[in-house]
Amino acid sequence: MQRRFIGEMDDDFLSKTVIDVKGVGRTLVILGDSSSRRPEVIHLIASLSGAVEVVLSPGGVPEFDDFRRIRLTADPAEPGCVVAIGGGRVLDIGKMLATWPADPDTLKTAVEGGQSLARRIPLVAVPTTAGSGSESTPFAVVYLHGRKHSLDHPTLLPDVAVVDYRLMAAVPRPAAAAAGLDVLCQCIESLLSRRTTPASGRDARRGLILAMGGLQGAMAREARSMRRMALAANLGGRAIAVTRTTIPHALSYPLSYRYGLAHGHAVALSMGRYLEQFGRSLSNSSGLRPWSDAYGFVLSVLGSAGPSDVAPVWTRLVEGVGLPSTLAALGISRTDADDQTRAYDRSRFANSPMPAQSVDVPALFD
Ligand SMILES: [Fe+2]
Repeated sequence: MQRRFIGEMDDDFLSKTVIDVKGVGRTLVILGDSSSRRPEVIHLIASLSGAVEVVLSPGGVPEFDDFRRIRLTADPAEPGCVVAIGGGRVLDIGKMLATWPADPDTLKTAVEGGQSLARRIPLVAVPTTAGSGSESTPFAVVYLHGRKHSLDHPTLLPDVAVVDYRLMAAVPRPAAAAAGLDVLCQCIESLLSRRTTPASGRDARRGLILAMGGLQGAMAREARSMRRMALAANLGGRAIAVTRTTIPHALSYPLSYRYGLAHGHAVALSMGRYLEQFGRSLSNSSGLRPWSDAYGFVLSVLGSAGPSDVAPVWTRLVEGVGLPSTLAALGISRTDADDQTRAYDRSRFANSPMPAQSVDVPALFD
């Protein structure tokens, strides 16, 4: 069971939290490159007691080689605790570090074999973006030779998630917008998933309402909205921890890798047409009936009257936060993008209740 703190931390909160969970050894802090220059993050690290080692994670997608380099350049002694402070990518590399294999290539072998490693070291996750909710999921994305893999093991769920919206205030606007779209997409995909449970459904519905209500205000750095988005992101993470994600996420990973698109932005590119196709399938297939209530809920929260207008409604939402809504607007050729998306993760497709033959992948990017 994870301990979660969602609110405004006192000055010594993180330090006390680490003392509570830490084993013997130093505290290993992994930070995003951009977070490392922010005074509030520096202040947070300075508050930690005992021996502390700080390592930096570069930008871009989380690559196995990043993990390997960090693991090999860090003090080789096993740490007593890993504290990951950053966006989803940093938290994912923090989860990998907390498996602490004697040889980092063990993780590569496991990933190539479709397996995961168990976590061995206490882990505290402190997100600095309201997006992936990775602080409350038991999986981590890792890229190997340009292909996305997921480590997925119950022990990868951090021991403690510390969600303080004030750490998210300095995120540049495009990154905050993409992260916000990821929150919406994760909640939607979780609701329209074969694995939905009553509990994941409650979290995803609450997350979707909060995110729709908070996204614009959070862009304007309004405290109340940022608090809402931070909670929504965590709820979305908790929801997909149960259900996993589905088709828009599956299609996003090759696009992020190939074109350097922010994760939430890449996911959002196919969401409007996906909801449109889902709605059409719903009216043609009785097999989708169990998702009819969830689908209606998603559309009502988005402000859409039905499948025929959900794609333009979604486009307005994406453009409303200042991001291009199509491949063409990003200057990406359709032929090239079609080649990339052929490498999608089919297991994520199977999570969607939409029959695979009803999904027109190229049309999802129209
Ligand atoms: Fe995501």
